[in-house]
Amino acid sequence: MQHLSLKGAYGVSDILIGSGLIQRTAEECIHKFSPSRVHIVTDTHVAPLYLETIRQQFNIPVSVSTIPAGEEHKRLSTVETLYHDFLSAGLTRKDLVIAVGGGVTGDITGFAAATFLRGVSLCQIPTTLLAQVDSSVGGKTGVDLAEGKNLVGAFYQPRLVLIDPQALSTLPAGIFQDGMAEVIKYGCIQNPEILHLVSRPDFKADIDRIIYECVKIKRDIVEVDEHDTGLRMILNFGHTIGHAAEKLGNYTALTHGQAVAIGMVAAMRLSNALGAPEDLVPLLSSLLQQHGLPTELPYGKQDIFNALLSDKKKFADTMNFILVRELGKADIVPLPVSQLQEYIMTI
Ligand code: GLY
Repeated sequence: MQHLSLKGAYGVSDILIGSGLIQRTAEECIHKFSPSRVHIVTDTHVAPLYLETIRQQFNIPVSVSTIPAGEEHKRLSTVETLYHDFLSAGLTRKDLVIAVGGGVTGDITGFAAATFLRGVSLCQIPTTLLAQVDSSVGGKTGVDLAEGKNLVGAFYQPRLVLIDPQALSTLPAGIFQDGMAEVIKYGCIQNPEILHLVSRPDFKADIDRIIYECVKIKRDIVEVDEHDTGLRMILNFGHTIGHAAEKLGNYTALTHGQAVAIGMVAAMRLSNALGAPEDLVPLLSSLLQQHGLPTELPYGKQDIFNALLSDKKKFADTMNFILVRELGKADIVPLPVSQLQEYIMTI
């Protein structure tokens, strides 16, 4: 088992990575929190896989909320349902909420834990690759509004994250591929060794190490910029154009990972147009394709430009792009909005 600790503004979080950790949930939670009761939040896809395994480990009262699976339920109404469930279970600030599932479950549960009684302790047990390498670590929680994704939320660190790579064996191939886009992102922005590891046909044999390397990068970045005002923005490599593509597809035509994959190739093309010494586009594209991810924009550049403009914060005259001009090194580059159309034509 590997251990990383993340020192945030309000304390230290422990991140444990190891196969079989789900079987040790109660032991780790009791050791860290000594709660009087726990409340597990999971979704309708994940409950049949892990709920009983986790519940039966505790010899203190356990209550459960099983929310409907899917991004369309990442709403304030789901959070309100959780508050009522917490109250009927008698949860107090001395108790513990455990989120078991992918990014959506983690984000909703994290926000409910951050705000219920002004904060109850939180443990994240991510069961998708994307949640294991990204969303369960770093304390971003929140829900969507009709106007857009993640518009309401809070920074709230889970004090414990239990990452069990064995959980990935039950994932459908497409969901695993989605997480690989984020893994490849970490390789591009910080550690090219990750790209080397995932280029091997038997890369899954090293998945524990790959997850550890990704989480370590995220931990290091979050410790420097927990509230996302500077360095943390490099985690958005591929996400600016990716979000525009997701939006153009009404958030259904492309998965998040597919959009990030397309966005990373576009951002790499932009890096080249702005003078990167080496053309890294073919290398990135072939690695993404090897993992079943798309690399070409399914929308016109003018549509992407319009989608970017509609997202632009009012009155901002620059837009931040994350550029990778050398593998393992990302820069936050504010580009003038007045020249945005010209830049987008290069992707
Ligand atoms: N997923 C990007 C971040 O946590 O900042």
